[in-house]
Amino acid sequence: MFHVLRIFCGNYLRKARVMYRTGYAISRKACAFIVMLLACTVGIAAQAVTLHAVNQTHVLNSGIEIQSNPGVLQIVALRDDLLRITMSATSKLPEDASWAVLPASRIARVSVTPDQDALSVGFHTALLQVRINRQTLGITISDASGHVISQDARPVEYRADDKNGDLGFRVWKVMPDDEHYFGLGDKTGPLDRRGGSYVMWNTDAYRFQEGTDPLYKSIPFFIGFREGKSYGIFLDNTWRTTFDFGKEYRDNYSFGSEGGPLTYYFLYGPQPKAVEMSYAWLTGTTPLPPLWSFGFQQSRYSYETEQRVREVADHLRADRIPSDAIYLDIDYQQKNRPFTVDNTKFPYFSAFVQEMEKKQFHLVLVADLHIADAPNQGYAPFNTGIAGQHFVKNQDGTIYHGIVWPGLSDFPDFTQQKTRKWFGGLYQSLYMDGVSGFWDDMNEPSVFDTPIKTIALDVQDHIDEPGFTQRVTTQREVHNIVGIENARATFDGMLALKLNQRPFVLTRASYAGGQRYGATWTGDNSSSWSHLRMSTPMLESLGLGGFYMAGDDIGGFAGSPSMDLLTAWLEVGAFNPMYRDHTEKYTNDQEPWVGGHIQEAIRRSYINERYRLLPYLYSVAEKASRTGVPIMRPLFLEFPEATADKHPLDLDAGNEFLVGPDLLIAPTPYPDELQPYAVTFPSSDWYDYWTGTRVTDGVPPKSTSLRSVPVSTGAPMGIGALQTISIHPNLQVLPVYVRGGAILPLQPLIQSTAQKPNGPLELRIYPGPDCKGTLYQDDGTTLNYQHGVYFREDFTCSVSASRVQLNISSVSGSYPAWWKQIEVVLYGWNTAGYVAKLNGQIISNGRYDAVHRSLHLLIPQNAAGEVLSIAKQLSSGR
Ligand code: GLC
Repeated sequence: MFHVLRIFCGNYLRKARVMYRTGYAISRKACAFIVMLLACTVGIAAQAVTLHAVNQTHVLNSGIEIQSNPGVLQIVALRDDLLRITMSATSKLPEDASWAVLPASRIARVSVTPDQDALSVGFHTALLQVRINRQTLGITISDASGHVISQDARPVEYRADDKNGDLGFRVWKVMPDDEHYFGLGDKTGPLDRRGGSYVMWNTDAYRFQEGTDPLYKSIPFFIGFREGKSYGIFLDNTWRTTFDFGKEYRDNYSFGSEGGPLTYYFLYGPQPKAVEMSYAWLTGTTPLPPLWSFGFQQSRYSYETEQRVREVADHLRADRIPSDAIYLDIDYQQKNRPFTVDNTKFPYFSAFVQEMEKKQFHLVLVADLHIADAPNQGYAPFNTGIAGQHFVKNQDGTIYHGIVWPGLSDFPDFTQQKTRKWFGGLYQSLYMDGVSGFWDDMNEPSVFDTPIKTIALDVQDHIDEPGFTQRVTTQREVHNIVGIENARATFDGMLALKLNQRPFVLTRASYAGGQRYGATWTGDNSSSWSHLRMSTPMLESLGLGGFYMAGDDIGGFAGSPSMDLLTAWLEVGAFNPMYRDHTEKYTNDQEPWVGGHIQEAIRRSYINERYRLLPYLYSVAEKASRTGVPIMRPLFLEFPEATADKHPLDLDAGNEFLVGPDLLIAPTPYPDELQPYAVTFPSSDWYDYWTGTRVTDGVPPKSTSLRSVPVSTGAPMGIGALQTISIHPNLQVLPVYVRGGAILPLQPLIQSTAQKPNGPLELRIYPGPDCKGTLYQDDGTTLNYQHGVYFREDFTCSVSASRVQLNISSVSGSYPAWWKQIEVVLYGWNTAGYVAKLNGQIISNGRYDAVHRSLHLLIPQNAAGEVLSIAKQLSSGR
């Protein structure tokens, strides 16, 4: 009944829009029409439909399909731990197509075993049981032992939009008191989403604040975490979607959309890292970015002339501030027109790019998606865009225009393959000139002169994409994917132009799966202490949403930071995946040297440290590009069972975060406050990164809940509580710790990643449980690593009271090492008396550093692998 009403009324509403636009004269026919329209509007607004009975069941090889009149529900197992749930209010299931999910994963299936009893129908896989209640259609998902993981709280509700007839829906799930929620990507606020509600609608959120929502990207994926165990839910719907974690109902969470397919995926952990890996299996990972993009990047809106860029580059080199990239913001262009260069400001552009290359700087150029509407002006992107029918159109067939940086602009129809190909080709001249990366900004898409700050919702787009039926749709459906498809066009275009180069694309807007096309940043933040604080949970959340290559505008975009704030931000940023200093037009200078020598020296020391740590960071990134486990990690991801009641430790641990599995960064949670704060350690063995001394007592914690941690005044807490130490904030020292059991590779300082480090590789051993590390290297720029041209070595160590043994694996891959020797640094060593043997032969070049309790030994790099054993010589008498 409802469906019939919807279709009938939907037609009336559409006709009404056409009549309104075409100025339909009031006539008897029109009067009758208006009466009907009002009736429909009232009728639809009041109508909501739920499906709540199993009318007929079809057992599928890989799941189940249930007719629940007038609709249908289908649940299939893509893997034993991954389900797709899809539902429709009509007998036709939603289109089996996706912008986010990889084609091979979308069609993957495993066989399941059907189950049924008096109350339910369903099936089980090797890892999950699925039950659908015969009376309510409620879905319950349990693990193999019957422990319930997720349960519908009430029937799914469909509701038609009273204005345009789009059919929205909402799904409610039971929300246990002790379940916590992480993810949704680009969001402010606490890392735990419990208690909040969120909107997915890509928005140019200039000067966003702590409560601003929505922001630039839509990543409708979250992790549920309870008692140390996790699952994920990914709602694959590009329309405006919303998520509510207990705001509407205290004991339910829910998600829904204004229209489009009701299709979501359930990803079973139980380890949170397994959920991350499954999400990567579904939506892909960021391909390994070029090594230089992990270096320090300097930007501002705008370095206006080539002379100014030269000055900045030379200043960085003269002050020995290691750096790899400089960004050109919109002012390098003629009249802000993308894909042009203002020859008065950059008269010899290609020579200039080469000059910068010689100085070991990569240039990244902004190239926005809006194309100036500039007929008869020789502006090729406009001319070719018109000729190829590449711009989105109004309902009446005219091209849609909106005002952005270049003035009146047109917007590419990125959901068409041919448009993406055309757009990708626009990079040719700049990319061939030697520009290293492109910055896709304003691609929510942002439009200045409209109340909704974006393209009108009824503007038409063409969907021409494998898996989808070719059709015309509107911005309602594609608004949230303009950014991802813009980045995809850029990435694919760059790859087509230079087949063996890793593209570097920085995008502001995106959708789930957008990580496949490169890096992102958190947009237009502000130069305030609270924005420094906010950046950590934002970057962690982006990482959980697949975007492991993420950063923020260091120092803040809007406004000018105090010198202490800039310093503190450059410290924390040194441990973020992407490290870019950027600021708005007309703000004060914000380069690392600003504010005098003392500040500069502190900042330089952190940038230096970043460069020394690159072997570790790059090895973590390479693994992330294979597994999807992000570089920057909340503590619960590595230590899901750290607390006795197994609540996520991040709820108690301020703004602490992990870089890879081994580094714990503990910035003050309230950076503008001066009193001491507690650093909480997620396990028992941790060392101070700066001094190498052990800061925890190595005794496994036996805490109960951590809600009220006693803070020690210096010495670590031992048995009876999670270990904490109290830190007095000090601008010069960002607390950084290393997991006992880590083996970290570091390199001698370089000024840019184009330089080969000179000297031995440093291998720091921090004895502790699960002792291991890895080192990955390659040429940093090409795709040769995909064909075996890389270097990989794994390390393990075994530790006893009197002996440490380091095992270095043989090298895999054919990329040569730049080092001839390895300096092994063994921390936690308390005696100068030792016997060291390399592959059984005594070596005696060691040096004991009593202050840092570390033993330093030089050994040759040996591709065949080696064993170094170090034993205490108790008779040394010291
Ligand atoms: C947007 C970007 C900002 C950039 C500016 C000018 O506000 O977010 O990073 O500098 O546009 O291009």
